[in-house]
Amino acid sequence: MTKRLVNRMMAVCIAFVMIIPSSSAKEGMWIPYLIGQLNADDMASMGMEISAQDIYDVNQSSLKDAIVHFGGGCTAELISSKGLLLTNHHCGYGQIQSHSSLENNYLQNGFWAMNGKEELTNPGLTASIVKYMNDVTNEVLSGVIATMDKEQRAAKIRENVEKILADNEGEYELEVKPFAYGNQYILIAKEVFKDVRLVGAPPSSIGKYGADTDNWMWPRHTGDFSIFRVYAGTDNKPAEYSEANVPYTPAQHLKVNLMGAKPNEFTMIYGFPGSTNEYLPSNEIAFIINEYDPARIAVRESLLETLDKKMRESDATRIQYASKYARISNAWKKWIGEVKGMKTTKAVERKQKLEREFTEAINKNDDWKSQYADVLPELMKLYDDRKPLMMQRYMFLETMYYGNELMRHLYGYRKLVSLYEEDNTEALETEAAKKAESLAGFYKNYDSELDEKAMKALLPVYLNAVSTEGASELLLKLKAMDEVTLNKYVTNLYAKSMVIADPEKWSASLKDNPKKAIKTLLKSDAYQLASASWTNFIDVINPQTSAYEVKIEELQARYMMGLKEVFPQRPFYPDANSTLRVAYGKVEGYKPMDGVQYGSHTYLDGVIEKYIPGDYEFDLPEKLIQLYKTKDYGIYAEGDKMPVCFIASNHTTGGNSGSPALNGRGELIGLNFDRTWEGTMSDYNYDVSLCRNIMVDIRYVLFIVDKFADAGYLVEEMDLITELPKEEAAAEEVAP
Ligand code: ARG
Ligand code: ASP
Repeated sequence: MTKRLVNRMMAVCIAFVMIIPSSSAKEGMWIPYLIGQLNADDMASMGMEISAQDIYDVNQSSLKDAIVHFGGGCTAELISSKGLLLTNHHCGYGQIQSHSSLENNYLQNGFWAMNGKEELTNPGLTASIVKYMNDVTNEVLSGVIATMDKEQRAAKIRENVEKILADNEGEYELEVKPFAYGNQYILIAKEVFKDVRLVGAPPSSIGKYGADTDNWMWPRHTGDFSIFRVYAGTDNKPAEYSEANVPYTPAQHLKVNLMGAKPNEFTMIYGFPGSTNEYLPSNEIAFIINEYDPARIAVRESLLETLDKKMRESDATRIQYASKYARISNAWKKWIGEVKGMKTTKAVERKQKLEREFTEAINKNDDWKSQYADVLPELMKLYDDRKPLMMQRYMFLETMYYGNELMRHLYGYRKLVSLYEEDNTEALETEAAKKAESLAGFYKNYDSELDEKAMKALLPVYLNAVSTEGASELLLKLKAMDEVTLNKYVTNLYAKSMVIADPEKWSASLKDNPKKAIKTLLKSDAYQLASASWTNFIDVINPQTSAYEVKIEELQARYMMGLKEVFPQRPFYPDANSTLRVAYGKVEGYKPMDGVQYGSHTYLDGVIEKYIPGDYEFDLPEKLIQLYKTKDYGIYAEGDKMPVCFIASNHTTGGNSGSPALNGRGELIGLNFDRTWEGTMSDYNYDVSLCRNIMVDIRYVLFIVDKFADAGYLVEEMDLITELPKEEAAAEEVAP
């Protein structure tokens, strides 16, 4: 056989392998160092070409070295040897907003540094890279014995953790994290960079295109990205901000592949998913669907309505509240989708089925029976009993914490008040001066008129939820008030609050005479309400919910252990806990409802279809329209089209925003930023038929950087792959 023929045959074989529908999309967020053991074969069967060591290795550089925990809440990835960092627009939003003003409105117009000097610093922003992860379960649980009570057990675990941290102390920041409700403990060492500068962000009309209307939805047309750069000391180690710092040289940065990904191709998401709850029993799921989510949705609805009205009237308020509004509406909308999704996928029945199977299995085995028979009934009873408390907890958080800025601000005076009460003059003066310094940040984005309206709408909801048991005199008095009187009380509270009446005077009095300032603060209605609501939360509600939590944790841990033992062939992965994970699946559309099939890709044509001139969600920059008209897409086009977003069946959650979407060779093809409406219930009930993660196509990102923003120098820093690997190109040629 000639060599040419062999090559051809191989190409045909590869083509054949590629068109076999891969095993199926996979539920789960997997621990990177266990992939070799648990997932690598499965991933390879779905089209992964790299090895488990390429994904995670501690001895050599691996993909993990390019994955960054961005500010603790999002993910980002290193995409050049000069520390260039890619994340979502909504992840960099707070930073973009903080550099914005009416004159220099980067939220609206975008921002592009055309060289290093123009990059903007972001005090407080961190970029963390995992150096290693080690299982320390045995060390953490050493000396923990069955006869210990909860306190003894917790104390022993704490002591062991302290020892592990001390034994491993070195150049990295360390933490020991519980996984699977404490069935497993992992020591994580990180390098935490503190000088992270803003390099570029598209205007919101691209980065947040479709805003809240399109949020959590497919088809999507958002260019949700922003670019930062990590700086290090001259030794390439983390350093506080300094002009002398230099761009960080990562151990590995991602290669960028401009070939896109077709339906059925393998994808994986590497990042820091925040939190999921996949192992809850059916009754708790029912509470979420029928009680917790609806109550929280209703509160946010009324808050959002109040904010929206004023934001539409005033440009200044819109800038001030853009970030807050987005945060509040994001969870609100997600909960609506979550309830809907759990109903359509019959999440309660599904959990009940699992519970039945589990119970039947353990009843047939004496060992299991003695070990696990009590677990489910007790766990479910705990969730039942906890319900009224959870409602109170949620209602406090929604109305008086997230829902009211004055209250939240005043909760921050507790330290000053206790120093005042202890008569600790020196410390009081230092702390009061610090507080005075920080006030500008609060006032910059505060609109007291709006906050007062929110309080008027939400205080009655709060008071209605507070239980009379344990409530203070003030709360009881307010609870008894009729609507008109309560309304007057709020008007008066705001009118007389010196914190908001005259910001300059309040700052000055904190600095000049803190004792007097705190004395008057204590007498104000505003502080008294803050103190009463906070105290009720901390002293009445919290101790009770924490007591439940401890018991629930323990039973959830046993439930998970039981599930694993009884169903060894089913995949059980630990819930997300803001640690580094890998999810994998494939590019695929889905069927949101009967008679409808969604495709997997969107294009610039779709962006233009949604365009509404002047609209605050669907307006577009003129330049983008021009680029569309002239089809000036450069090397980023797919044929004569410009790809924008795509979806895949990777199991993701909040915190995965900004995560790289990688192809089978570990190259960057997209940037994760959202999930689809029908699938937001994936945090409790992942369903492969409906759950999809949404990514912006990397080609759209680079097109915006290069063609729209003329910041092509950034693309030049990257390693681009613009051709299919030879075998695949050949296979495509011979494919019919
Ligand atoms: N839904 C996405 C995530 O949970 C994106 C949110 C940002 N966009 C917005 N319109 N609020 O965080
Ligand atoms: N948008 C989310 C985030 O900010 C991602 C998600 O929930 O799917 O992390």
